[in-house]
Amino acid sequence: MSRLLKVALIHNSKPSAKAQHLPADYYSECDSPKTVQAIAKALAASGYTVFPIEANRHLPQRLKENPVDLAFNIAEGFQGEAREARVPALLELLEIPYTGSGVLSLSLALDKARSKQLFRCAGVPTPNFQLFHRADDPLDKKLHFPLIVKPNREGSAKGIWASSVVRHDSEITNGAASSSRSHETALRIQIQRVLELYDQEVLVEEFIDGTELTVGILGPDRLLPVLEIDFSECAPSGEFFYSWRMKEYQGNKEMHLTPRFWCPARLSESVTHAVGAVALKAAKTVGFRDISRVDIRLSSDGIPFVLEVNPLPGLDPKESNFPIMSQAAGISYEALLKQMVQMALERAPKSPSSIPLSKESDFPSPLKAPQRRGLPAAGAKDLGEAPGVPAVARRGIRRGNPKEEDLGR
Ligand SMILES: Nc1ncnc2c1ncn2[C@@H]1O[C@H](COP(=O)(O)OP(=O)(O)O)[C@@H](O)[C@H]1O
Ligand SMILES: [Mg+2]
Repeated sequence: MSRLLKVALIHNSKPSAKAQHLPADYYSECDSPKTVQAIAKALAASGYTVFPIEANRHLPQRLKENPVDLAFNIAEGFQGEAREARVPALLELLEIPYTGSGVLSLSLALDKARSKQLFRCAGVPTPNFQLFHRADDPLDKKLHFPLIVKPNREGSAKGIWASSVVRHDSEITNGAASSSRSHETALRIQIQRVLELYDQEVLVEEFIDGTELTVGILGPDRLLPVLEIDFSECAPSGEFFYSWRMKEYQGNKEMHLTPRFWCPARLSESVTHAVGAVALKAAKTVGFRDISRVDIRLSSDGIPFVLEVNPLPGLDPKESNFPIMSQAAGISYEALLKQMVQMALERAPKSPSSIPLSKESDFPSPLKAPQRRGLPAAGAKDLGEAPGVPAVARRGIRRGNPKEEDLGR
C-alpha cells in the first residue's frame, strides 16, 4: 500500500532573490528549495510518490487536478490572523488526511499572548508580559526590566533583534536628553518600531537571562533529548540570544554567529525531567499532533520559563532543531518523516466521505446586490498578487521597508 501512496508536500517556498520592497525577514518563515527537496527525497525513500505543491491560492485547484492520499504539510502561510491554520483548514474541507497539528492548535500557538494566558491557567511558568496595541498604552508597573519586545504573531525570530531587549539603563540614542524615565521611552520606541513594521499587537515580556533550551515532542508524548543552544561564542557579533540575525545567519563564522548545540543539554537528570514535564504540559495546553517543539529559557534559579509552543516546527534535516533532537534520540530523518505519515494515516477516516462533493450545476444562481451609487461593484477590481509577492505585503508592511542592515540590530 505505502508504495502507491501519493503525498502532496504542501509548502511555502522562500524565493531565491530577496525582493527590494519587502523587509529582509519577510520570507524567513518559508522553506528553502533545499529543505523542500530534502523532505521530498526522504519521503520518496520511504516509498511514497511525492508532489511538492506551493501553498498559494491555486492550491485547491492543484489538489483537484492531482488527487492525493495524504498531505505532508509544512506551509507556514502568509495572510490572516491564523495563517498557519489555513492549509489544514482547507485540507479538512477537502477531506484530505494531513500530517502535523490541526487548525485550533496552530491558531492558538501563533498567538503568543493567548498561549501564555493558557500556560498561566495550566500552571506552566512563562515570563510576565503585557500586550501593547499602541506604543503609548500605560506600562504595567509590575513588569521588571530588562524587557524584550516582539511581534505577537510571528516566528523564526522575525522582528526580534539585539535591540529588542530594553534594559533599565537603556538610554535613547537619538539625541533626546536622557532622564530617569529613558528606559521607558526606549521601550516605547521599540514597541512603535514593531507596530509599524508588523502591523499587529506587540508582546513585551520580561527577559529571562539564562540557558536557551528547546524540547522536541514526538506525538503523543515522547520527549526527545533536550537541545541547549549556547551563544557564548557569539559575543563579538553583538547578538546574545536567538535573534533574527542569529537564526538567519546561523553558522556564519565571519559574523561570529556560531551558536553551539548540545543535545542532550548539559543539565542534571532532575532538571532535564522538570524541563521535559513543563514542555509536555505546555504543548498539551495549546495542543499538537505528531510533532511539537517548545522553546524555553531556564532561569539562573532553575525555573523553566516557556516562551512558546511550535506545533509546526521546521524540518530542515541539518538546520532545524527538531531533526537534530530526533537524530539524538536515534531516529533517522527518513524514519521521522515516515512516522509522521503513519500517524496521519492512522487518524484518517477509514471510509470515504458520505457527503458528496457538489457539482458546479448544484450552485444556486447568485443573488445580485443592488449597486450603490459612487461605489465600484464588489469584485470589480482584482486585488490579486504580483508573482511571488503575497497579497499581505500591501497590508502587513506600513511605513518604511527596512533593509537588512536595519533589521540587524
Ligand atoms: N522572554 C524572553 N527571555 C529571554 N529570551 C527571549 C525571551 N523571548 C524571546 N527570547 C529570545 O528570542 C528567541 C525567539 O523568541 P520566540 O518567542 O521563541 O519567538 P519566535 O516565534 O520568533 O521563535 C528565543 O528563542 C530567545 O532566544
Ligand atoms: Mg521560538
